[in-house]
Amino acid sequence: MRSYSELSREDLAAERQVLLDQYNLLQGLNLKLDMTRGKPGAEQLDLSKSMNQILGDEYLSEEGDCRNYGIAYGIKEIRDLFAQILDTNSELVIAGNNSSLSMMFDTLMRSMIYGEIESDKPWAFVEKRKWLCPVPGYDRHFAITRDLGFEMINIPMNDNGPDMDMVESLVASDSSIKGMWCLPLYSNPDGYIYSEETCRRLVSMKTAAPDFRIFWDNAYVVHHLYEDNQGSIPDILSLAQNMNNPNRVYQFASMSKITFPGSGIACMSSNQDNLARAQKYLATRSIGPDKMNQLRHVKYLPNLDAVKILMKKHAQLLLPKFKAVDDILNQELNGLDIASWHSPLGGYFISLYVVDGTAKKVVKMAKEAGVALTPAGATFPYGVDPRDNNIRIAPTFPSVDDINKAVKVLTVCVKLAAVEKLLGE
Ligand SMILES: Cc1ncc(COP(=O)(O)O)c(C=O)c1O
Repeated sequence: MRSYSELSREDLAAERQVLLDQYNLLQGLNLKLDMTRGKPGAEQLDLSKSMNQILGDEYLSEEGDCRNYGIAYGIKEIRDLFAQILDTNSELVIAGNNSSLSMMFDTLMRSMIYGEIESDKPWAFVEKRKWLCPVPGYDRHFAITRDLGFEMINIPMNDNGPDMDMVESLVASDSSIKGMWCLPLYSNPDGYIYSEETCRRLVSMKTAAPDFRIFWDNAYVVHHLYEDNQGSIPDILSLAQNMNNPNRVYQFASMSKITFPGSGIACMSSNQDNLARAQKYLATRSIGPDKMNQLRHVKYLPNLDAVKILMKKHAQLLLPKFKAVDDILNQELNGLDIASWHSPLGGYFISLYVVDGTAKKVVKMAKEAGVALTPAGATFPYGVDPRDNNIRIAPTFPSVDDINKAVKVLTVCVKLAAVEKLLGE
């Protein structure tokens, strides 16, 4: 295939006509496909349906009666399990209810109201407070820092993680930068894996704010697609400790994409001092989490091996879907010089880069042909993609058949928008 940039105006106009014909044909199929949100498909949820029956009459954990109030930081067994998953110590884990996003929100709210250990005032009183946001990133992270009044600063991502030169220089000079979102393993949406070097620099860098915090969302810690090619990152809490910044990191994870989103178990992990501070307020906030659900989870998944076996079954369901996206992108776009993407080793998304200034147009055209995609810009703070070139593809929920049709529509739209841009339209 010849790259579009090599085509003459006449050839481009002819190509546009071919693409328009294809687009009209696809539009005539009256498709109704949804590729918007990264949630598990029904077959994935079915993998864990036996968990519903698993408790029978049981209600006892090592620490007592799970039916009653108490055990504010989660039962020992689930904290042990998360410690194995996160390669940390269960003393450093608080297990909560179903949502890690709520734990992130609550953690940031505590900082807003009470400040962090080193803060001279609550963050709500820090005028022009700022937050670093690796982009493209997770829209719900950005919604939290937007709603809590942080000015969000875009940090470009590369395949080793965020641009660390930029991060280091910003945090060194501006004490109103209070923190940073990080999605270190299979970043959403690119699927990048932070390198060891990036992790080390993040926990060792000098920050003008003494109370700077990293929110380390380890959402995809066991969500590998391949058994023989798995990404890994270091235990960030030990690394922070070793680099003499022991308070720097709050780590989060959950069972949402292991068992059931909405009724999984979430956890937060940090060093002892940060946790002691959080626990004080957590004990005020609630008399204890849903321990019956925690017990149900540990009966179903008693150790890391059980989690790995389950995650392998998820991967068997997900891999054909990721491959379907990759195959069609390769078939339709390879060599044209108008798009690029990274084939992830895990996580929930594929991120497609199209010709600058065309992502919004592509999403609109796809919608008009019956394919709903995540709005262009959603992967950036304030919904603004400065280059308007990133489109998030969420292949986990639809069937392979639907993915084939949807991605075909998407590629026709990508080509059409590129040709029209080259023709100056
Ligand atoms: C990167 C990432 N973090 C966190 C969440 C939310 O997780 P939870 O269900 O634990 O709130 C999601 C959900 O899509 C996610 O993609």
